[in-house]
Amino acid sequence: MGYLASSSRYDSMVYRRCGRSGLLLPALSLGMWHNFGSEAVYSNSRSMILTAFDHGITHFDLANNYGPAAGTAEETFGRVMKADLSSYRDEIIVSTKAGYYMWPGPYGEWGSKKNLIASLDQSLRRMQLDYVDIFYHHRPDPDTPLEETAEALTQIVRSGKALYVGISNYDAEGTRKMSRLLQKENIHLLIHQMRYSLLDTSNESVLDALEEEGIGGIAFSPLAQGILTGKYLGGIPSDSRANGHSVFLTGASITEEVMDKTRRFKAIADERGQSLAEMALSWVLARKQMASVIIGARNSEQIKENLGALSCLSFSEEEERRIDEIIGGRSE
Ligand SMILES: NC(=O)c1ccc[n+]([C@@H]2O[C@H](COP(=O)([O-])OP(=O)(O)OC[C@H]3O[C@@H](n4cnc5c(N)ncnc54)[C@H](OP(=O)(O)O)[C@@H]3O)[C@@H](O)[C@H]2O)c1
Repeated sequence: MGYLASSSRYDSMVYRRCGRSGLLLPALSLGMWHNFGSEAVYSNSRSMILTAFDHGITHFDLANNYGPAAGTAEETFGRVMKADLSSYRDEIIVSTKAGYYMWPGPYGEWGSKKNLIASLDQSLRRMQLDYVDIFYHHRPDPDTPLEETAEALTQIVRSGKALYVGISNYDAEGTRKMSRLLQKENIHLLIHQMRYSLLDTSNESVLDALEEEGIGGIAFSPLAQGILTGKYLGGIPSDSRANGHSVFLTGASITEEVMDKTRRFKAIADERGQSLAEMALSWVLARKQMASVIIGARNSEQIKENLGALSCLSFSEEEERRIDEIIGGRSE
């Protein structure tokens, strides 16, 4: 099948409501943290974006600093949008973020109005877009008053540069506070992007806040950066993130404890007739607060494989109990 040849791209995707909002997100979204910057091969990055869209993945997640070099994932995405997807802009949800270090001096990171407004303007230029669909504050800033960050997000929506706003990596209390500050301005906090997977449920308490406030959840690193594909069970493959330049996943992350849990999750996936990666994605999606999972990929094949998760999204009580035992470190 050629790129963009499919008139049925929406048939096999599941679209889920993002909290109490009008926005539906594909159950699987594609993130551009790795493998889309200037050090990646453009034809492969393009192929991943188009393969994803051809399979109903309508949501692409970026941030100002994705690369390497920082900013270049947005440039790559903009190039593909312009060359291949410009007539599909209204069928696509683009998100970007600001908050991590991006440029030198006191205004290049965190949560000031100065940083957020300037960063979004830069992102729009790099992507050659008039607006993004979702703009996130990427991480909480302990020193900037939350009111100022909320004011910046409000201004961004009012200016039309983003349709919706979200937060990422906030705890439950910060989430509730931001939601209420934005409500005062009649702006709904659409979405919270958090790390969440079978191997990391430390953000569990945020899920309650999302439900109370009607905020949609979206999980990043749902495969624990690849560990939950089972690819590290027999050692570290040469073509894997842990063997690359990533500082976020290294050989040190592949501990015996993590491998033991991974093996036990895989046994349950085998019984369900799913690959471990499919089960890891469907398990996150079985949390009712989660609208979508953001997967990463190194090639189009991985994206197509991960779409298999959609064929079995529910878990029996017994499966949930056994998975909880493994998460909690108890023996089955
Ligand atoms: N808000 C935040 O602070 C934040 C932080 C991190 C990420 N994110 C977002 O979340 C997105 C996803 O994060 P992530 O890349 O860590 O997600 P992930 O889905 O947990 O890991 C993706 C990696 O797993 C491996 N993989 C995926 N499918 C595979 C398959 N079928 N078979 C074998 N290996 C497979 C690939 O790595 P290798 O093949 O290279 O091993 C791929 O790059 C990011 O792109 C970004 O948009 C946000």
